[in-house]
Amino acid sequence: MDKVCKALLLSCILVSLCFTSSAQTCNSYTFSNNAIYRSCVDLPFLNSFLHWNYTQSSNTVDIAFRHTGTTSSRWVSWAINPEGQQMVGSQSLVAYQNSSGGIRAYTSPVTSTNTDLPEGDLSFSVSNIMATLTNSEMTIFARLELSSGMTTVNQVWQEGPMNGDTPGMHSLTGGNGQSVGVLNFLSGQTTTSGSGTNSRLRRRNVHGVLSAVSWGTLMPIGVMMARYLKVFKAADPAWFYLHIACQSSAYGVGVAGWATGLKLGSDSAGVQHDLHRNIGIVLFTFGTLQLFALLLRPKKDHKYRLYWNIYHHSVGYAVIILSIVNVFEGLDILDPEKKWKRAYIGILIALGAIALMLEALTWFIVIKRKGVNTDKHPHNTNGLSANGAMAHQGV
Ligand SMILES: *[C@@H]1O[C@H](CO)[C@@H](O)[C@H](O)[C@H]1NC(C)=O
Ligand SMILES: *[C@@H]1O[C@H](CO)[C@@H](O)[C@H](O)[C@H]1NC(C)=O
Repeated sequence: MDKVCKALLLSCILVSLCFTSSAQTCNSYTFSNNAIYRSCVDLPFLNSFLHWNYTQSSNTVDIAFRHTGTTSSRWVSWAINPEGQQMVGSQSLVAYQNSSGGIRAYTSPVTSTNTDLPEGDLSFSVSNIMATLTNSEMTIFARLELSSGMTTVNQVWQEGPMNGDTPGMHSLTGGNGQSVGVLNFLSGQTTTSGSGTNSRLRRRNVHGVLSAVSWGTLMPIGVMMARYLKVFKAADPAWFYLHIACQSSAYGVGVAGWATGLKLGSDSAGVQHDLHRNIGIVLFTFGTLQLFALLLRPKKDHKYRLYWNIYHHSVGYAVIILSIVNVFEGLDILDPEKKWKRAYIGILIALGAIALMLEALTWFIVIKRKGVNTDKHPHNTNGLSANGAMAHQGV
């Protein structure tokens, strides 16, 4: 029982660690052609990284733009836009794998939003452009000769599907709608599209972390406490208080996440995420109901207690399922680097594995106890039965 408690606590701690560590990963990357770049940055969207050497005396910059998790049927592009933080005006480097299997890398000035990225000269000269596609990672290499003083630029990066040998229209939502920002070649600093969007992005991240930790992680752990600890006689009534402590702190943090989400929704002028929002509202309602359920709980031997149990359990499991669904909905909207989704999937797998083990252990104990009871007391006086163990126990 002590071990179970510790395991659950440890998973709580691991979860918080997972969500707080996020270092730049581009620094540890080694290019297969052994090229070395003095600066690099993990771009905030579309699993992309920019590496570069800036030479101030000649205003030249050698860049390598990497985009991971792509396929041979998608194009990739990185651009400087001297005109602003938008698509039109972008002086782009484009790469894709053509129908004969060669990797084509070329320059394309974007003159309208309805473009299929035809080849053309840019407003600055580009040499040594080439690209590679290995292990689902497209990398564009090039040397740009910029005009003097062009050390802070607007950068735009993008990826989209191929239509045969022609780049097709890219998505406008998720990371594809946000992959623009300011890049300083000298300091290596980047920001995403102005301070307004930046603070908005921060609030979206806060909302994501609060919600994934509370609704998506602590609540399932709280359910596991109730379901698996109460079979241990020594853990009665400790499981009850642990369950309440876990669920009320999850509810507290969850409501904070929920409130930031509502604020984000009301501030967003453009795209509405109705499904995510509606699930969020249902979750808040159900979570609050569970809180009242605690206060209105009939005594253990009250005739309505069975109905209360059924109600409490079904709303509880509905909350867990909806929470997990909504965390994935949110991850799709926010479209952070793939590692966050992987981290959350990892947490779910870990919790699932622990639950499976405890489930087996619980049944083992209950069945064994039943055997002992039928030996000694033919009428099974302590009220435990293999089938009823889950449904009828409880404070
Ligand atoms: C970048 O600069 C470093 C020296 O500072 C040099 O070793 C490296 O080869 C340069 N990389 C490229 C791609 O030119
Ligand atoms: C594909 O790209 C390679 C390398 O750029 C080129 O040699 C080849 O002609 C291209 N094939 C087609 C069909 O465009």
